[in-house]
Amino acid sequence: MIGYIDGLFTISTSSFTYEMKVDSFGRLLHLYYGAPIEGDASSLLSLRDRGFSASPYEAGKDRTYSYDYLPLEISTLGEGDFRTPSLIVEREDGTLSSSFIYSGHRIYKGSERIKGLPSVEIADAECLEITLSDSLSSSSLILTYIAKDATLLRGMQIKGGKEKITLRKALYSMDEISSRRDVIWFDGRHCSERNIKRERLDTATLTFSSRRGATSHQMNNSFILASPETTENSGEAFIISLLWSGSFTFFAEKDQYDTARFALGPGSEYFSYSLTEGETLTLPFLILTYSENGLGDLSVKHSRFVRKYIARKRRGGLKDPVLLNNWEATYFDFNGDKLMAIAKEAKSLGCDLFVLDDGWFGHRNDDLSSLGDWSENRDKLGCSLETLSEGIRKNGISFGLWVEPEAISEDSDLYRSHPEWVLKLEGKKPVRGRYELVLDLSNKEVTDYLKAVLSSLIERGKLSYMKWDYNRFITDFHSSVTPSGRIEYDYILGLYSVLEYLEEKYPDLLIEGCSGGGGRFDLGLLYYTPQSWLSDNTDAIERIDIELGSSYIYPVSSFGSHVSAVPNHQTHRTTPLFTRSSVAMIGSYGLELDPEKLSEEEKDLIRREIKEYRKLCPIIKEGDFYRLSHTPELGCAFAVSQDGREGVLIAIRRLSHGNPKDHYVKLKGLDEKGRYSVEGKEYSGSMLMKAGLLLPFTYSEDFEAVRLKVKRLD
Ligand code: GLA
Repeated sequence: MIGYIDGLFTISTSSFTYEMKVDSFGRLLHLYYGAPIEGDASSLLSLRDRGFSASPYEAGKDRTYSYDYLPLEISTLGEGDFRTPSLIVEREDGTLSSSFIYSGHRIYKGSERIKGLPSVEIADAECLEITLSDSLSSSSLILTYIAKDATLLRGMQIKGGKEKITLRKALYSMDEISSRRDVIWFDGRHCSERNIKRERLDTATLTFSSRRGATSHQMNNSFILASPETTENSGEAFIISLLWSGSFTFFAEKDQYDTARFALGPGSEYFSYSLTEGETLTLPFLILTYSENGLGDLSVKHSRFVRKYIARKRRGGLKDPVLLNNWEATYFDFNGDKLMAIAKEAKSLGCDLFVLDDGWFGHRNDDLSSLGDWSENRDKLGCSLETLSEGIRKNGISFGLWVEPEAISEDSDLYRSHPEWVLKLEGKKPVRGRYELVLDLSNKEVTDYLKAVLSSLIERGKLSYMKWDYNRFITDFHSSVTPSGRIEYDYILGLYSVLEYLEEKYPDLLIEGCSGGGGRFDLGLLYYTPQSWLSDNTDAIERIDIELGSSYIYPVSSFGSHVSAVPNHQTHRTTPLFTRSSVAMIGSYGLELDPEKLSEEEKDLIRREIKEYRKLCPIIKEGDFYRLSHTPELGCAFAVSQDGREGVLIAIRRLSHGNPKDHYVKLKGLDEKGRYSVEGKEYSGSMLMKAGLLLPFTYSEDFEAVRLKVKRLD
């Protein structure tokens, strides 16, 4: 429900309330975001004459009113607010002051699709739009709020006015009175993405960002603000995330009176965006999800929303394909015959899809050349793309290809004919990453070229799937057509325009995202590519951590997850095949190995595992996913259907110990009053959820997995 009375906006669902108020000088205050409440939270405002706090001129002799400490919904410079601003508007004369005053609002039902950005269409969502105008530059802000279940989406448009403005910073923000928060973030590196970190927020500013032109392995663009006492099982917390795939800035700070400010939006120091009259910058949506019942419940609520409205394949094509990808099987060393043999074997194991990874185009036999030349290497394949695809599909298996459309090798025909299509500065040698340069996706000529060349590949190769990789970050923010300060933003719009075009033109195509594994794992990209390769680290023991870390924010259905060979290529560790397969079941299952090198026994096990995955897939991908243990000893998760009738528990124990201790976990998402069978034994729901379950490890080897099916009996 969205209500408006005397300047007070109340947005509420059964899970949260969000309140704002237009004050008597027209500024928009943020009063409250949290568990559902009734009433006007401006009772929380404490107006006192405080030393060194400046008051707006209109307040006259009233020195108790100051934006130095009042909680704000947007924060700018020049208003007496000395905290870190979220919006900096530079005027033509270089002035940095702005003063956004309420000028109107509307309340309506049903959010609509925004073309060109990841958007959310919810027919029955309650929506609010508030307009604020800057009396100085005559620019305006349109703030949008869309509420559904436990989630609130915020949108912001900045419209240029009579005077040219330059946005130096454009983040969403929100202040919180009497704040006691831990900031939880997800950092990492290539092959070790989304490690969970937690720090108490005190009178300091914690800033996290990416200036890499992509969200990055190093820092995800989703954060959790939790009460200090919040655990996995209890306490309140909210997720703040951005439907965006580029550079970003997040900060959390606490001021002298314990009011906190949380801000998140696109762009880094490279960002500087000018607007004149008639021009609008539309920010990607901010997404907030709230729970009073611990981080486990928060992830479940957020994942339900993301699965339903964001990371979903909108139309036809393969449903939940089990795939085999040849990267770790062959790397660049293959020919057509080898691929045919792998694909045939993949089919015999039960796969639906064969994916040909890097090295099939131009003259690419290592990572030094050919990116940009998206034509098959007939010498290497021994045939055309059409013939290869036909040969593979004849086995009754679909065909998919790896591409890295945003990259270009200097040794490529594309670079030789279009050096101006690359992000680089005249007179300076571009910085190389994996010997690649980055195409200028802010240039429409480039995105038009990509649309044409990718369409041709999809049609010629009869592709059911495409793995869209991105293997370096942007260093040279210079374009031959776009002002430098806009590139961070316009590049991502260019990327989205190509993905949107392909999605509309090829409704049966599944695109899987990838960026050296999980370097661009974000809600923005998941909108177009509902699954994404989680990490280049395929070691089961390290991957379980990456899966559990990612599951705080992202639905398991979006995790590209494969069984690879041993010793593992990243860690050189040898783990049992059943363990590798159990870890790969947490996500979209696949194989990343040479099936010709498997023993008959291993092949039989994989066949059985694929059949088992198909049965479990609806629970894993459409059910709720709970982390039951995430410790150095034990990674354990429980996926359970939303009706609580069927579940699967996956537990991975790491090193063995002499005279080991036992492991117990408490299940979630069941009915305490129900009766359940766990692998043939009967238990009450209350027993499983409150007393727990003894995990039946044999303790006979390191890296042992336990997988248990839970079924409701009554
Ligand atoms: C990236 C991907 C890998 C593989 C290689 C190919 O690293 O994450 O899965 O596709 O590129 O070069």
